[in-house]
Amino acid sequence: MKTAIYPGTFDPVTNGHLDILKRAASVFDTVYIAVAKNMHKNPLFTTAERINMIRQCIGDFHNVKVNQFDGLAVEYAKKLGATVIIRGLRAISDFDYEFQMALMNRHMNAEIDTVFFMPHENYTYLSSSTVREIVRFNGDVSEFVPEIVKNELIRKLRSDR
Ligand code: COA
Repeated sequence: MKTAIYPGTFDPVTNGHLDILKRAASVFDTVYIAVAKNMHKNPLFTTAERINMIRQCIGDFHNVKVNQFDGLAVEYAKKLGATVIIRGLRAISDFDYEFQMALMNRHMNAEIDTVFFMPHENYTYLSSSTVREIVRFNGDVSEFVPEIVKNELIRKLRSDR
């Protein structure tokens, strides 16, 4: 049984993340989405809100679970018995950061490898902060996030205007 974790901030989850997840879930027996608290990124959504949105978006995946984690991704992977960390590569510009993180993670735990998936080309220029920005200025993000995420963004970003 091959178990993998897919760590990230997911503030919020986008169709790009879900695309990576679909690919990973078809390769590994179990994929744990590991939502990093990542308070230094000052997330718009609380950890519980981010998890809740992901849970509502992954109804079709029978082998995916979602939880929060704090601390090192390799430690969390080890705790779950996972030997793989999943990451997405959207463009060459992701490579430097991901390469450094993958090698550092492998240095810390040689039994855990990072496996990269490339999302559908429609999502190569997508990021959570872009989506937040578009909603903040009343743009439409229907192509980029599931309906429930769009509604949560609108509620959060436009409610106090
Ligand atoms: N589709 C859309 N957007 C994507 C994406 C995809 N497939 N893949 C990445 N992104 C975007 C995210 O939306 C996010 O956008 P934003 O910065 O505009 O909000 C950005 O790319 C990076 O996000 P994410 O993949 O969530 O990575 P991260 O840098 O926020 O998180 C962790 C990285 C949490 C995995 C990493 O910091 C970690 O493992 N932390 C724990 C401590 C640790 O072990 N550190 C490593 C030591 S070497």
